[in-house]
Amino acid sequence: MKILLLGSGGREHALALKLKASATAVELVSAPGSDALAELGTCVKLDLERPVEVAQWCAAHRPDLVVAGPEVPLVAGVADAIRALGIPVFGHDAATAHLEGSKAFAKAFMQRHGIPTAASHTITDLAAGEALVRGWTHGFPIVLKADGLAAGKGVVLAQTEAEALETFRAFMAGQFGDASRTVVFEAPLVGMELSLHVLVDVDADHAAYALLPACQDHKRIFEGDQGPNTGGMGAFGPLPFLRPEDIERMRVDLVEPTVKGLQKDGLVARGVLFLGVMWTAQGPELLEYNVRFGDPETQVLMQLLDEDLVSLLLEVAEGRFAPRTLKLKPHTAIAVVLAAEGYPETAKKGVPITLGAPGTTLIHAGTKRQDGQWVTNGGRVMNLATSAPDLATARDAIDASLSQVQWPGMQVRRDIGLKALRHAQAGKTVQDAW
Ligand code: AMP
Ligand code: GLY
Repeated sequence: MKILLLGSGGREHALALKLKASATAVELVSAPGSDALAELGTCVKLDLERPVEVAQWCAAHRPDLVVAGPEVPLVAGVADAIRALGIPVFGHDAATAHLEGSKAFAKAFMQRHGIPTAASHTITDLAAGEALVRGWTHGFPIVLKADGLAAGKGVVLAQTEAEALETFRAFMAGQFGDASRTVVFEAPLVGMELSLHVLVDVDADHAAYALLPACQDHKRIFEGDQGPNTGGMGAFGPLPFLRPEDIERMRVDLVEPTVKGLQKDGLVARGVLFLGVMWTAQGPELLEYNVRFGDPETQVLMQLLDEDLVSLLLEVAEGRFAPRTLKLKPHTAIAVVLAAEGYPETAKKGVPITLGAPGTTLIHAGTKRQDGQWVTNGGRVMNLATSAPDLATARDAIDASLSQVQWPGMQVRRDIGLKALRHAQAGKTVQDAW
């Protein structure tokens, strides 16, 4: 089976490893791919922001399945263009991808379909926004979100009125181009944040979904959740303090109305939705939708999933997914990110990596092969992932493997899952503050 995988990072390498482990023989083509992905197949240079270019390649090479990693191609309409050729795509139509591509659209969707979320105002006018900040009644921080895609940098939690005004003015002046000329202001939510992934297959006469285990990402660069935000320094799942009734509550309060809302609005969804959830004193509230797998959450989920990934993604892509409970290993999985010196502000590239035999799954995110040697080539360079019967054992296994991957300036958090482990060991649940 010929599969075209769109993307090049750690998420895609984890997906590729799982696709290649399928019972079906897979001929993998990655676009644009990476040197690590080239070891699992071939790579083709395609501009993923140009649906016509990707569709032309698909028309000529007729893959049996296309799997989209990142959100940008989906928002650009790549999945629509490929589906129009009759080729199955695991990835949403542009109209659905708008749930990530426009925060204002997502908030309106949540409100229209009764999905619990922070109170918000969508602003497109400078004077109206300034007045809103000056008369702000929802408490601090004031949450400002650039409407469009901003490479994960479009959300600011302003601690003061002055900071909110400064951020707002920068957004309106085009800090992220047109993406920040519409701004969503939100009331702050306080609670426990988690990542909930759902496979969704929805069209006018079919609506099926399946939950993947809830995970938790660690966004800050330093241990103890200190320092600047990153794309994610490590994740683990499932969460030891989340009871079956908590998962059921998220299914009923957030997932069901989302799936019904998609169908009501005439949207076609064929892929994954990643719900950013804040579990507040009132229960779970939706922070955001992503229309793709999370990174590094995917690296965790691929450790847990005990299914043939090719069959699973194909069922969704072909619109014949039947609702069911996904088969999972009775384990806890963990993925740690090994980041480059300078990350997240910069990333020191070209640094040679000393690689032993980690004994856990090695995933390449931002690496390159240079003169027969792996070198750093991005902020998040590699991941180590594994699973074990419990979180403590999984953490120990990662710890033991860390000495096998080294380079000067490598940054790693050794506390992935630690707070959660202590929380669970203290008998606390998702309802309790950390
Ligand atoms: P988003 O891209 O909307 O998920 O926002 C990025 C991050 O900002 C989230 O992962 C949260 O940690 C934080 N965040 C977003 N919205 C809120 C909110 N209303 N209250 C508190 N934190 C938020
Ligand atoms: N780990 C968060 C994300 O993929 O957006």
